[in-house]
Amino acid sequence: MDVFRMTGPSRLTGTVDIRGAKNSVLKLMAASLLAVGRTTITNVPAILDVRIMVELLVRLGCVVDYDAEAGVVSIDVPAAVGIQADYELVRAMRASISVLGPLTARMKSAHVALPGGDAIGSRGLDMHQAGLEALGATVHLDHGYFVADAPEGLRGTDIALEFPSVGATENLVMAATLARGTTTISNAAKEPEIVDICTMLVEMGARIDGIGTADITVTGIDELHPVRHRTVGDRIVAGTYAFGAALSGGDVTVRGVGLDLMPNIANKLTASGASVDDLGEVELGDGTVGRGFRVIGPERPRSIRVATMPFPGFPTDLQPFVIALNSVSDGVGLLSENLFEARWRFVQEIARLGAKVRVDGNHALISGVEALSGAEVEASDIRAGAGLVMAGLRASGVTEVSGIDHIERGYENFVTNLRSLGANIERVAKRDILSFE
Ligand code: UD1
Repeated sequence: MDVFRMTGPSRLTGTVDIRGAKNSVLKLMAASLLAVGRTTITNVPAILDVRIMVELLVRLGCVVDYDAEAGVVSIDVPAAVGIQADYELVRAMRASISVLGPLTARMKSAHVALPGGDAIGSRGLDMHQAGLEALGATVHLDHGYFVADAPEGLRGTDIALEFPSVGATENLVMAATLARGTTTISNAAKEPEIVDICTMLVEMGARIDGIGTADITVTGIDELHPVRHRTVGDRIVAGTYAFGAALSGGDVTVRGVGLDLMPNIANKLTASGASVDDLGEVELGDGTVGRGFRVIGPERPRSIRVATMPFPGFPTDLQPFVIALNSVSDGVGLLSENLFEARWRFVQEIARLGAKVRVDGNHALISGVEALSGAEVEASDIRAGAGLVMAGLRASGVTEVSGIDHIERGYENFVTNLRSLGANIERVAKRDILSFE
């Protein structure tokens, strides 16, 4: 069992390059199933979730070539692909359910394991189901599998989502690209990752209007063709380092993601006393060009009030960093969580570092303290884990974060990047008391 061991306090200073978004690339890989032939995706982050998606595609019969260092995945999709996503994989990575739409559209049938419980809430699939049924599929539950069948193929329809669900919007847009006729999706999600997926689908030949708006129209066609596509930068990873700079009194230049993808984030950082500069187009370490920005943190941040919302609102995935920042701020901060009901396990852990957080329903009231003190803590999900590391920057003494496999599902080179930004952090082996070999 490895843990991240860090000694604080330390300030983050320097430059970090961000690669493609986890929440986009996994779906781009699923979308490749819609076209026979070789689709190549670039700017792919070297993270565990990409490896899980590679395994899923291989089990579906694709030949996948993944060069983690170069950040390139090439997927050869055969004419007949398998239709089953096993429990083992879906349990390891919920985003596996994004093969549901493509498989139902192309193979007329999909058997995808139900993800079950999740550390950040119940996360239903009712909108995925209702949408596929509206597109003409029959859907039922069979031995823990979500089974969708559309023997005659899917047909276009009008779908009104109850809530702008990211996963449901993606699955339904992908399914609709090969349906007969026109599909409209209202109250669609507008996240940059959805825009990225729709952009790739259009490159593949799909006809989609209203990309990036709440009203998406998809006109189905008979077949799509494979493409080469570059993944959009990861705004959540970018936001992680930005909050790290703000809460540690640091100075970090983030390259590979522009502030245009981060509305309602820069203003919160500014409200905390940080200065945020848009650097426009910059050259990254690998010679490619992307957008960038610089965050300089104050000596001690001011408390901020944040409510998480679907894009363009403040992202729920940055919620732990808001709590971490407020924990060391001057004043009392507020975080209202509006997307996931059970995202509070992080609060119990950050309390071990001395944070003063009171949770009431979906609100967390955070009274800032002058300094946190290092302790052993456990990551319950990707962002909670990264949030504990960022809090550890501001804690005096040693902080040890366990459950780091969660963090590595979504952050590439996390320790290397943080060390190059000046953090005193290393990955060390630790004996697990529960393993008695
Ligand atoms: C995606 C992101 C996740 C992010 C979230 C919200 C991926 C792999 N994950 O998750 O990091 O936090 O968007 O920005 O892209 N819901 C239902 N029924 C449904 C679908 C959703 O009730 O059929 C509910 C969920 O329980 C949740 C809310 O809607 O409370 C948001 O879920 P959704 O937008 O679908 O998030 P994900 O796609 O799971």
